[in-house]
Amino acid sequence: MSRRPNTSRRFADSGSIPFVGALHPKSRPSPLLSVGLLVVGALLIVGYLYHGSGGRSSNIAALNRLDGGVSCTLELQKLVPLLKKAYGDSMRTVLHVGPETCSVVSELLKEEDTEAWGVEPYELDDADGNCRSLVHKGIVRVADIKFPLPYKAKSFSLVIVSDAVDYLSPRYLNKTVPELARVSSDGLVILSGYPGHQRAKVAEVSKFGRPAKFRSSSWWVKFFIQNGLEENETAVKKFEQAAAKKAYKPSCQVFHLKPLH
Ligand SMILES: *[C@@H]1O[C@H](CO)[C@@H](O)[C@H](O)[C@H]1NC(C)=O
Ligand SMILES: *[C@@H]1O[C@H](CO)[C@@H](O)[C@H](O)[C@H]1NC(C)=O
Repeated sequence: MSRRPNTSRRFADSGSIPFVGALHPKSRPSPLLSVGLLVVGALLIVGYLYHGSGGRSSNIAALNRLDGGVSCTLELQKLVPLLKKAYGDSMRTVLHVGPETCSVVSELLKEEDTEAWGVEPYELDDADGNCRSLVHKGIVRVADIKFPLPYKAKSFSLVIVSDAVDYLSPRYLNKTVPELARVSSDGLVILSGYPGHQRAKVAEVSKFGRPAKFRSSSWWVKFFIQNGLEENETAVKKFEQAAAKKAYKPSCQVFHLKPLH
């Protein structure tokens, strides 16, 4: 996982340069001026750090930043009842892969007859007590999804991935998507953003290593065919019927794939 240099550190480094000049013997600054500059500098740095950590403390704010307003992981929480309609019994053991997986797993665990696990592909920033406990119990793992998942084939009845494939280049998608299909016994549900949100966000690049690339449904369908993945028409139909009944139009693309064995 590539980590970008810490911007607050960079700020502190460049921020220290004026002080070197101010303290240079030739410039003979008054002691009061130096102290004043130090105080202002310190306040700027503290303010900057405070701002940075404050913004990250809210999971919802972080999710909303992901792609300029639409988060498929947030959307997923609304989709659970529809997925239950489409998959019925296949919701018994679910693996969610995506950011904020602790909150998704906690929601899924509230469902009757559903066991849930999670893979967090990025860092667990600001994990709360509940999340730390899920990690401690081995229910949630942090794993780079560019590499094989630490699970045996067909470990889960259903695998759901949200806000994660949009950050992978086609080279990694070729490995990761079949890998997600490998660990499921009944199906793989992919939630991905619609094209048209291509703006690169600084926060996004530093967290995910690259900005999201939202691909059209025809791009995805071609990708599935190339990789020998088939859509499950029964699941598609049941899901669409359940959505129509509730007059619900998902703001993310939802693909239903058959498992790969
Ligand atoms: C992904 O896999 C497909 C099918 O095997 C291949 O045609 C394509 O070139 C691959 N893409 C990359 C970027 O490796
Ligand atoms: C397709 O999805 C349905 C649930 O809607 C499931 O029962 C069935 O096993 C799936 N078919 C295949 C071939 O995976």
